[in-house]
Amino acid sequence: MSICTARMDCLLLPVMISQQSIQQILNRIDIIEILGEFIKLKKRGTNYLGLCPFHNEKSPSFTVSPAKEIYKCFGCGKSGNTIGFLMEHEKISYVEALRWLAAKYHVELEETEVSPEVKAIQQVADSLYIVNSFAQKYFSKALLETEHGMDIGLSYLKQRGFQEEIIRKFQLGFSPEEKNAFAREAIANQFNPELLLKSGLVVSRYDEYLDNYRGRIIFPIHNNTGKVSGFGARIIKTNDKAPKYINTPENEIYVKSRILYGSYFARQAIDKNDECLLVEGYTDVISLHQAGIENVVASGGTSLTQDQLRLVKKYTSNLTIIYDGDTAGVKAALRGLDMALEEGLNVKLVLIPDKEDPDSYVNKVGAAAFRDFVAVNKKDFILFQLEVSLKDAGADSSRKAAIVNQIAETISRINKTEDFTKQQDYIRRCSEIMKIEETGLNALVNKFIRERVAKSAQGSFKEPFTVQEATDQMPPETGEDADMLLLLFKDEMQERAVVKALIEFGVKEWNEEKKVADYFFEEMIEEDLFDNKQLYDLILMYKKWYDEGIEPTPRNFLYHEDQQVSRLSVSIMDFPYELSFKWKEEYEMPVATREDMYKEEIISTLGYLKLRKIKRMIAQNQQDLEKETIAEKQLVLIQTHQHLKQLERELLKQAGTVIMR
Ligand code: CTP
Ligand code: MN
Repeated sequence: MSICTARMDCLLLPVMISQQSIQQILNRIDIIEILGEFIKLKKRGTNYLGLCPFHNEKSPSFTVSPAKEIYKCFGCGKSGNTIGFLMEHEKISYVEALRWLAAKYHVELEETEVSPEVKAIQQVADSLYIVNSFAQKYFSKALLETEHGMDIGLSYLKQRGFQEEIIRKFQLGFSPEEKNAFAREAIANQFNPELLLKSGLVVSRYDEYLDNYRGRIIFPIHNNTGKVSGFGARIIKTNDKAPKYINTPENEIYVKSRILYGSYFARQAIDKNDECLLVEGYTDVISLHQAGIENVVASGGTSLTQDQLRLVKKYTSNLTIIYDGDTAGVKAALRGLDMALEEGLNVKLVLIPDKEDPDSYVNKVGAAAFRDFVAVNKKDFILFQLEVSLKDAGADSSRKAAIVNQIAETISRINKTEDFTKQQDYIRRCSEIMKIEETGLNALVNKFIRERVAKSAQGSFKEPFTVQEATDQMPPETGEDADMLLLLFKDEMQERAVVKALIEFGVKEWNEEKKVADYFFEEMIEEDLFDNKQLYDLILMYKKWYDEGIEPTPRNFLYHEDQQVSRLSVSIMDFPYELSFKWKEEYEMPVATREDMYKEEIISTLGYLKLRKIKRMIAQNQQDLEKETIAEKQLVLIQTHQHLKQLERELLKQAGTVIMR
């Protein structure tokens, strides 16, 4: 069986699990057995009851129904099936959950449509995990069970305050000082030298294989399923010229920009606290854990990458950066701020005083005082940035102007429709701090948003035109990107696509007699096609202008005086994957391309909404039918059903496809 389980590996290694295998797994699932591995469940009537793992509670409200094969928590409202539970609880993707189940039930996974190249990479990845696991055990044993390791490694860790329990939990280890103790052992165990080199555990010098991490404390780095994807190795003797840490080189399973140290051990705590603490170093993470603060991960001392931020965003929207007060670390963190805002994270900052870092500080003041310190000193990152630069600028007015500009640019990055109030709030608070007019700052923020939209519009011809192309460029099915896809293509996106098509193509020619907008408004666009009424309002607005003889262009919307309209239009026009993904996926539809096929796009996007409405009506009708007991009324409902089905078929035919069922 393949071991491609880490999210990041799956991004590198797209695989498809055959339908048979999936079926086999699904047939075996026993929800009580699986959930029982994570929660203590007690039988209550036909259901089972336990403490909810998704929120803190003292009396159990987490209910599992073996008959329905679902769970629901009556405390926090979370619910789902077994796979959903695994995905949510373990923070893994659908495919990863399948793999987990396959391993549990000893189902041999059949993987289809994997190219030889992909297979080869997969094999390397599998082998790397195996050698890393071997090495981790070797290093742990060396630390805990050899005299040399206990003398040098364990005593060092103990002297720093790490207790054996936490050392075992994080699987810390020790690499002996001998030049090739590990290499010899690994080769004796049939590990291929090439693989050992690739793993970074061994280096080749003068035709000899030598250990890379000699005389160092070993920090294994776990992926999200707890497998070791790499190591950080810290020097013990301080007087050395050698680097403080040696880290695993980039390989098939270790991609630095995607790693957040400690995330495997922090997931549940992050969920429960709805907050992720970010520190710099391995030792910071471990010390905080030891102090009972478990919602903590480390960036590894460099500024945050987009991938790391996305990983955080998967767990929570609240990121609290805890760095030592020295400027280098804070500057590095600041560099990631704009990105963090774009990801929709609320970023807070806590600076640790007096040349301490979180590790030394928690050891000095203790867990309770550390928590208090964080709570009291948590600063909003944007406001912090503003205060620091204002202090820097002093009375220099040209520098002050630059700061106003910079802060407006920063605020403009909070640019998701749902974050609108947050943005307004910042505009208010920052203008207060800077003692400037709120409307002025507001206008400046809008300017930055417009500029960015204009820029991305220029570049948009290089952007993928069809969902097919767009999805081709994305790794399939797995991990974060699957979530992104889901987000992108969730129902509202279909509604957005319709509005976007109208705004973009409304004034183009439909045929000799009429324009696209004419056709559009003949097509009974009703409010109930839209779940998001704001989007429907944009259509009404368009119609009003159009009826008054004004040609509504994208600019009319983007530059609309009503900020809500403007923001919403920005977010619609800014959205690169406008086509009917689900339309295709769900109904085997052809997908229109843009620009030269704008008519098809109008038909396709509109058709999707109509079809969705009909599907909903069919479902409702069916529900009514199930409840109905009077024969005559049943007949009416059956006729309605047939009529709706007919409409559905017509719609599908109009879009030129055959229904498969
Ligand atoms: N780091 C690194 N290489 C170095 C120095 C640092 O990769 N030469 C990374 C490590 O991930 C380290 C983090 O940056 O954990 C923070 O560095 P630092 O604060 O120097 O190390 P600590 O982890 O705090 O180690 P210690 O407490 O033992 O000093
Ligand atoms: Mn430290």
